[in-house]
Amino acid sequence: MATGVTTVDPGLDDVLVGRSSISLVAGETGGLVLRGYPIQEVVPGTTYEAAVHLLLRGHPPEEARPEEIRSALGQRRVLDRATETLADGLPSDRAPLDALRTLVSAVGDARYPYPATEAQGLSLVGAVPTMLARFVRRSRGLEPVAPDPRRPHAEDYLRMLTGSVPDVAKVHALEDYLVLLADHGMNASTFALRVVLSTNSDLVSGFTAAIGALKGPAHGGAPAKVSDMLDAVGDPSEAESWVKATLARGDRLFGFGHRAYKAEDPRGLVLHRIARTVADRRRFELAEAVERAALDALRREKPGRRLFTNVEFYSAVVLEAVGLSRDLFTPTFAVARTTGWTAHALEQVAANRLMRPDVEYTGVTDGRWPLPRGWDVPA
Ligand code: ACO
Repeated sequence: MATGVTTVDPGLDDVLVGRSSISLVAGETGGLVLRGYPIQEVVPGTTYEAAVHLLLRGHPPEEARPEEIRSALGQRRVLDRATETLADGLPSDRAPLDALRTLVSAVGDARYPYPATEAQGLSLVGAVPTMLARFVRRSRGLEPVAPDPRRPHAEDYLRMLTGSVPDVAKVHALEDYLVLLADHGMNASTFALRVVLSTNSDLVSGFTAAIGALKGPAHGGAPAKVSDMLDAVGDPSEAESWVKATLARGDRLFGFGHRAYKAEDPRGLVLHRIARTVADRRRFELAEAVERAALDALRREKPGRRLFTNVEFYSAVVLEAVGLSRDLFTPTFAVARTTGWTAHALEQVAANRLMRPDVEYTGVTDGRWPLPRGWDVPA
């Protein structure tokens, strides 16, 4: 293919794949802007419904919790019978994120034909928390808790998981987390979704691909590993030696480093403050000790790499404090990101073009076929 391209960039670090007006990730300065609003303006205190309005419609709503979005998400949290049956029938040893990927995929494209629409997106944003909560409760031998369409989205997600009306401080922490994680530029899961949509495929297929991409620890799969790390360190006095030994083995410190940010991740800074207010005091002090030790060690061992705390570090501390089990950390990231995925799907189909990059072929081109023909070939 005569593209004129001469550089190979396996991580696509320096490739612009399009234009977007949804969110700006300013990696050098540590900035994040959602539809024109710096993230520190938006969080804490913005409802998830307002963030859905902002990201999908491009401007803030008039109400703090826009009724139209609250009602749409509430109705869509009610699953159809087929999805409930499938959620109840999945083997209980499946990880919640794997179950979610299967349940979203099983929705099929009949009601979600190309091109993606806002109504389709709201259906998926609404359904995802119920899919997760239903599967998780069934897999733990508990009765599912039906959605309450009148409740706010974040609160109802937590209520469906735990079976009781959650504490207000926990709901606020979860809601802040969901808004902070709702969109983030051309991250890997969003890119995966946009590639799928670029083939004129449906939104359900795009979401399924995005969930698969989110799963990996280089993207959304890190926060549970942060909790494991905090457990392994155990006590603030052990932080320095534990971090040192981990780096000496050549292992990575989860919750640090980011492809885009070469400064502090602004979401991490907000989550740090939220963690201070909701987390258990000893757990929070342990996290701060590990963070300090990690940043010192990374500065020493990886000079010039500009490695900082990323969003996943204090996400883990906040989600623990909210009462979620570790296997729900990445699925809850998916709950947040459904809105960003929808916004990007709408932007993609509005000016669609097949994404089809090239690769530099490094094999030979003059091989002689070594096998006899499997059938007679006319001369
Ligand atoms: N711990 C130790 N060293 C690290 C870390 C880390 N967390 N992150 C990067 N480095 C080092 C690498 O070893 C490498 O050093 P070297 O060249 O001396 O070998 C250098 O920094 C560059 O690393 P790359 O992997 O090339 O950087 P990349 O931009 O691809 O990595 C990533 C980004 C995958 C997030 C990485 O920082 C990492 O693995 N972090 C830990 C996992 C994690 O926290 N993931 C969540 C990311 S946030 C999100 O996606 C929502």
